[in-house]
Amino acid sequence: MEIINIKNLIHEYRTADEETETVRAIDGVSLDVEQGQFIVILGHNGSGKSSLAKHINALLMPTDGTIWVDDMDTRDGKLLWDIRQTAGMVFQNPDNQIVATMVEEDVAFGPENMSVPTGEIWKRVEKALGAVGMTKFRHKSPLKLSGGQKQRVAIAGIIAMEPKCIILDEPTAMLDPVGRREVIKTLHQLNKEKGITIVLITHYMNEAIKADKIFVMDKGKLAMQGTPKEIFSRVDEIKGYGLEVPQVTELGYMLKKSGLDIEDGILTVDQLLEQINKMERDN
Ligand SMILES: Nc1ncnc2c1ncn2[C@@H]1O[C@H](COP(=O)(O)OP(=O)(O)OP(=O)(O)O)[C@@H](O)[C@H]1O
Ligand SMILES: [Mg+2]
Repeated sequence: MEIINIKNLIHEYRTADEETETVRAIDGVSLDVEQGQFIVILGHNGSGKSSLAKHINALLMPTDGTIWVDDMDTRDGKLLWDIRQTAGMVFQNPDNQIVATMVEEDVAFGPENMSVPTGEIWKRVEKALGAVGMTKFRHKSPLKLSGGQKQRVAIAGIIAMEPKCIILDEPTAMLDPVGRREVIKTLHQLNKEKGITIVLITHYMNEAIKADKIFVMDKGKLAMQGTPKEIFSRVDEIKGYGLEVPQVTELGYMLKKSGLDIEDGILTVDQLLEQINKMERDN
């Protein structure tokens, strides 16, 4: 079952200075996301990732083409709140997403706005805080938390709205390595344990390794799609889009180029070691 279905999406921004001047940020993108998948979107700066994310959340309307979120057409104004509840959005800067002075109130904000009954709200807050591992901070001020903890609270606020899908636009960009790991681990748990579809936009290739599927954007177009192994087997193509591959993939690729019999698309140190051990056995 598809949770996101995008057909021939075009988005043109009007630029401020001249009325007729437009920027085509999304240029004919079609893609599907299955319910329950963990999706990563990669792409160089300005390739259209954020614009695409905003379409899934009905923050932008198509210039042309269509987007269905759980079978709801994002152009249908009556469905706006249903769409935003189905597909919650988490942004880059955790500070901009804090709305209350206490963690649990912050998490309650979304369901409160959806007019969820009070008793039900507190059950959801409890569950959401548990799901991101932030229960013991529930009475703390969000401002006192680390960046990674703030992002986990922001994610809890979305989870409390019981979405089928969460879209995260570079949620780890402003975090230190520890915060980054916390957030990515939380996302994988939510995906596995609750079946929430995750759409993660990131510039960190390591965060893409465990995805079910990767989409690569380039100049407003969908340039590549496939499993991490498929995508990172195409090192030269990836680099042509101004992106890197994970360090261990790069190492495997260099060893192969130097003449060793190493598989394409190595994603982990263990996989690389296994290849090297295999070479030794074969010799
Ligand atoms: N509000 C806007 N008005 C005009 N042009 C815009 C606007 N927002 C984005 N653009 C342009 O649309 C294109 C795609 O931008 P977008 O922010 O979607 O890319 P991105 O892949 O998210 O980039 P980044 O990696 O830097 O976040 C860029 O050329 C950008 O300059
Ligand atoms: Mg962006």
